[in-house]
Amino acid sequence: MWGRAVLVVLAAVVAACGPMAGQQQQQLPHLGGAINLFSRYGYLSISMRVVPREDKDLTWIFREPTVDIFRDISLQESVETFSDVTTSGAHVFEGDFHMEFCDNLKQLLQAYFRDFTVERLDRPWRAFTASWSRNALARHMGINSSYVTGQHCYVLVRVARHRVSAKLGPKDPKLEPEEVVEQEVEKVKVGDAPSVNEFVRSYGSHYIASYVTGNSLYQVFVYTPPIYRTIKDRFKTRGITDLSNVELASYFSPWSAEHIGKIQVASGNATVEGWATEHLRINFYLFTYNSLLKLHENASLLRKLDSLLRNEALLQLNLRTLSPAFKDSVKREWFHEVMDNNLKLWEVNL
Ligand SMILES: *[C@@H]1O[C@H](CO)[C@@H](O)[C@H](O)[C@H]1NC(C)=O
Ligand SMILES: *[C@@H]1O[C@H](CO)[C@@H](O)[C@H](O)[C@H]1NC(C)=O
Ligand SMILES: *[C@@H]1O[C@H](CO)[C@@H](O)[C@H](O)[C@H]1NC(C)=O
Repeated sequence: MWGRAVLVVLAAVVAACGPMAGQQQQQLPHLGGAINLFSRYGYLSISMRVVPREDKDLTWIFREPTVDIFRDISLQESVETFSDVTTSGAHVFEGDFHMEFCDNLKQLLQAYFRDFTVERLDRPWRAFTASWSRNALARHMGINSSYVTGQHCYVLVRVARHRVSAKLGPKDPKLEPEEVVEQEVEKVKVGDAPSVNEFVRSYGSHYIASYVTGNSLYQVFVYTPPIYRTIKDRFKTRGITDLSNVELASYFSPWSAEHIGKIQVASGNATVEGWATEHLRINFYLFTYNSLLKLHENASLLRKLDSLLRNEALLQLNLRTLSPAFKDSVKREWFHEVMDNNLKLWEVNL
């Protein structure tokens, strides 16, 4: 059943990128696939490509094992692909450029994983980051580890290029469990927590309801709290388009920032990283540094970037609980209750 689903997605990807000469087929997420969040909490960045990794094998985006538990998923998918923008069109970039103010480290991680949601998890970013050491965190965010503790504030700047956007729907999908799953649901008894855990071990806790893949550039600017507050207030009252170019440049220069992080490529692609180092350099008074702000209002750079950022990383993900497998509402409630307890335990312990 899911062979077909994957084919739909792969066909779409090939159409978007042209022939994938010499490239292996990428492992992508597949809609409706169920994963066991409990066995991976804190470690999801190992099996989903969301930050640059040491291993330079870019042939997979998603390699978390999934189980198919719903019938006829392929009939309910909607998959949209975004090919390179044409050079003549008014449109220069397929995706978004965005900037987020983060009062502290926690908000920085929250911002980075803003587009990752996990039903019934209040802090979904922890499912990716709870296992990160201070050094790992610094490396993944592209900043010097001396700014990972103490009193610092951050601005995350990101340019995300979408390639494939897939979701179940368009409206509420009608999810019917496979027969074997139905039999397993029968064995879950209200009041009996181990029976729920047994079910989760076999079939998982959440399924993939939607995702977006592509690639992104991101950069973290580090500030002392007083300067950060000044800049944040300016943005609140004016908005980016109302600020003069000199003002904008100075906020994102060593003039204001305590530290300017490296420009990172979500997939870790070295070619793209090299391009960014070479083309996104800014000279501002005595300073020379690399900045994503260079892309602001520069159509030719954005157009180039549009074609450089390919389908290599996971940009958005929505995981929903397997509750549609439970037709009986009392049993569904019980399933959620046990899940909530387990999730809370994880959130507290890691
Ligand atoms: C990080 O910053 C400290 C202090 O500013 C400096 O001594 C150190 O060399 C920096 N480390 C790296 C990897 O840039
Ligand atoms: C855009 O960037 C390029 C490359 O750095 C530069 O030559 C060009 O002048 C910039 N264009 C604008 C409108 O700033
Ligand atoms: C990295 O990106 C470049 C530019 O889009 C692309 O040509 C190249 O194939 C990518 N590298 C790998 C290892 O996928």
